[in-house]
Amino acid sequence: MYDFKKDLIQIKQAGLYRDLLTIHSQSAPKTVVDGREMLMMASNDYLGLCFHSRMKKMAQQALKKWGTGAGSARLISGNMSLFSDLEKKLASFKATEDALVYSTGYMANAGILSALGGGEDVIYSDELNHASIIDGCRLSRARVEIYRHRDMAALESLLKKGKKYGKRIIVTDGVFSMDGDIAPVPALVDLTQRHEAILIVDDAHATGVLGERGRGTLEHFHLCGTTDTVIMGTMGKAMGCFGAFIAGGRDLKKFLVNCSRSFIFTTALPPSVLASALEALQIIKKEPERRQRLRDNYSFFRKALNELGFNTLESETQIIPIMMGSSVTALDFARHLFDKGLFIQAIRPPAVPEGSARLRLTVMATHTMEDIKQALAILEKAGKRFRII
Ligand SMILES: Cc1ncc(COP(=O)(O)O)c(C=O)c1O
Repeated sequence: MYDFKKDLIQIKQAGLYRDLLTIHSQSAPKTVVDGREMLMMASNDYLGLCFHSRMKKMAQQALKKWGTGAGSARLISGNMSLFSDLEKKLASFKATEDALVYSTGYMANAGILSALGGGEDVIYSDELNHASIIDGCRLSRARVEIYRHRDMAALESLLKKGKKYGKRIIVTDGVFSMDGDIAPVPALVDLTQRHEAILIVDDAHATGVLGERGRGTLEHFHLCGTTDTVIMGTMGKAMGCFGAFIAGGRDLKKFLVNCSRSFIFTTALPPSVLASALEALQIIKKEPERRQRLRDNYSFFRKALNELGFNTLESETQIIPIMMGSSVTALDFARHLFDKGLFIQAIRPPAVPEGSARLRLTVMATHTMEDIKQALAILEKAGKRFRII
């Protein structure tokens, strides 16, 4: 039997060891870990929908009517009518012709890039794209060109050199998952049109959050419904449940149903998840005050952090990085916060580039001003102690 001890020692020495924390109960933004109540600032449940009474009620009703599982893949016998109801609503929410639900965002990215990117094709990918996009690129047979983060001149020069390829696919996070900044979508759309490419925007962290009606990055730039951009969205973050979808043209959907292996070869999502996702879309529409509250919270929090002297990069959203540099410092800092009752995770390579370890703080609509002030007081003391500020 192979002995993993040596590998584990190496991972530990590099400050990259990860351990699973057990959550014993939660009612965001508070959570109980090892019997201690903590203030949660590491969750992607941005609007607090995981605990919304309507979400739970709809999930329970679906559970009663449909049972606990789908029983098979969608192309076999798992394609409950809940899927078409949800896909219609998702398409209308994202202003596209149609949508296709996947089991996770990871699978959606891996599934679309590997299906679209053939041997004659090229994928242009922002250097800070999420790991699921990176893995999707690796799974495809296409040439992969990585362009500098949000650098449209660099992307254009690659596009100019890439006329020989078949499909040219540009893929970007809408809101970058570790930096909290926003992709320059108007410039990306312009490049896509001028170079006859395909644009895929990963709206995992923008869905339910950005734009007047929470429709995502395109709405943020007033481009919703005006382009044929393909959108990947997730339902496990601001939508408060689980799963993901690709929103785009009708023929793209048919192509993915036939060719996307992570869609085809997996069990369909359970009915309770689909029912709560349907309800999440309703709540996002009917309770805009949650989105406003989230925006007020993250604007206040980030401004206060900057005034204290923390480096939060170019974050514009609810994802706020607090730069630490070394993985060891990031880990020690996060452990210290944990001891003080503040739950924020340290993010280290390979999730972020070497030398850019950080805390990744996420703000929720359910944080009160008291929560935010308490977190700021803890962060200020810790920042001084660790000589970060
Ligand atoms: C930008 C981005 N895309 C995709 C994913 C994957 O989504 P899921 O958690 O549904 O697999 C994540 C998850 O954190 C993400 O941050």
